[in-house]
Amino acid sequence: MWCACKERPASSPAEPWSEAWVESEREQYLSSATFRRQALLASLQNPANTYSQQRVASYGVAGKGWDALPEWNPRSVRLPADLSEVSDNAASLWNGVKPKTPTEWVALGREVFFAYPLRAEPLVEFAVKHPELALETGLERDKSGAYVGLVSFKDIDGRTRTGITCALCHASVQDGAVVTGQARRTFDYGRLRLAYHQETKEPVDPDLARRMATWGPGRADVTDDVDEDPVAIPDLFGLRQQTALTQAGTIRQTTPVALAIRQETQLLHSNHERVRPPRVLAWALAMYLYSLEPMPVAHARTAETERGARLFARHCAECHSNQAYGGPPMAAARVGTDAALANGAARGTGNYRPPALIRVSQAAPYLHHGAVPTLEDLFSPERLSASYTRSPLGPGPVPGHAYGTDWPLADRTALIAWLQTL
Ligand code: HEC
Ligand code: HEC
Repeated sequence: MWCACKERPASSPAEPWSEAWVESEREQYLSSATFRRQALLASLQNPANTYSQQRVASYGVAGKGWDALPEWNPRSVRLPADLSEVSDNAASLWNGVKPKTPTEWVALGREVFFAYPLRAEPLVEFAVKHPELALETGLERDKSGAYVGLVSFKDIDGRTRTGITCALCHASVQDGAVVTGQARRTFDYGRLRLAYHQETKEPVDPDLARRMATWGPGRADVTDDVDEDPVAIPDLFGLRQQTALTQAGTIRQTTPVALAIRQETQLLHSNHERVRPPRVLAWALAMYLYSLEPMPVAHARTAETERGARLFARHCAECHSNQAYGGPPMAAARVGTDAALANGAARGTGNYRPPALIRVSQAAPYLHHGAVPTLEDLFSPERLSASYTRSPLGPGPVPGHAYGTDWPLADRTALIAWLQTL
């Protein structure tokens, strides 16, 4: 589709997000360091946070910084129940052939999502040798007994190690079926680390130990700063609709290049900046993330859910404005929830972004910090009061996002009935 809109530069061949446009963005991403550098700079919401500073210093600087790292196409197998060694003859994750069709890009991205190691992880290696701990901390297995999101791989030094992949946090297992994109809300990273330190007697900072004990399942502090700002692992549905990525809206997303760069830099950063993923794999991963669809729900539309939909349109759609019911970021002070993550030194922007609401009824606990256990609580006035006791973070009020909490019960019930159909 061609567009004669004035504001579009002449070099852009097609309607944004059309297949032709995505291809053109991809080819520039793959071939030009200057293009990548510009795309990176355009994607950083707050150039002053450490996330931005690391990237500005090292990304897309031709011949230097992260561009100079060797590419790594690992030999990696999904972790089987018997924890076997990866054979020296095992094939690399990618056969080196660039995909030709959107379907091929998505299929390659799926491999990256499940099998490209972010890094070796002694914690999970320890846990799989203690199956009870593995079970308790959310290291789930599929029907074949393989651990979802864990791999056995040949590390850069030639040793076989256990590694973690995207699927550890961003896929869950329900009745033996793997639901990709649905957050692993059983994964208890803090507990796993504490168990590891107890068993190995490896020292741990007592303050960090105290904090890790409070994270609980489905929450982790993924930023390497001193701020105490653990976040809930989000679902990855409807990402393509969002103009900003992460809950604090750290990354502006006007092009898939923004997501490809996020994934390229996440993978090389997690791996201690020793190697970088081939960019074809970073692009494939982004295409796979956009393709993620939730399991179907029974859309039982009733007069009540229709009434809930109208209430939402009137009171909520101002912020939850896109097709996935997410929207552009806003000042954290406006929504009024705890601002620690929004203002964090690592990825802070001062903002929070309304998350997508696809399958929101299965996405508890709610808000960026996972402080609210149910939708009923999210919209109940009790949550805002001093006598509130049901937050997984401990007793006391959970302030902010007060929308709907002052409605009559019948309206709140209709709203929730509608949210359950999304
Ligand atoms: C240890 C758990 C963990 C692993 C492993 C992990 N993530 Fe995440 N991911 C998170 C958390 C927690 C957040 C929320 C961060 C925030 O909003 O500040 C997140 C956020 C994201 C987002 C932004 C979502 C949004 O709503 O804007 C994307 C995209 C994403 N992750 C993709 C990936 C991919 C791809 C991989 C593999 C390369 C990966 N993640 C590995 C925990 C993890
Ligand atoms: C002024 C803008 C704004 C309005 C109005 C608004 N929201 Fe939100 N909503 C947000 C933001 C921002 C967040 C993320 C806040 C955070 O995580 O701290 C959010 C989070 C949520 C969540 C949590 C989702 C999750 O997965 O954790 C739900 C559910 C939600 N909103 C539904 C609604 C409903 C229903 C209404 C109307 C009654 C509404 N919102 C009105 C901005 C808004």
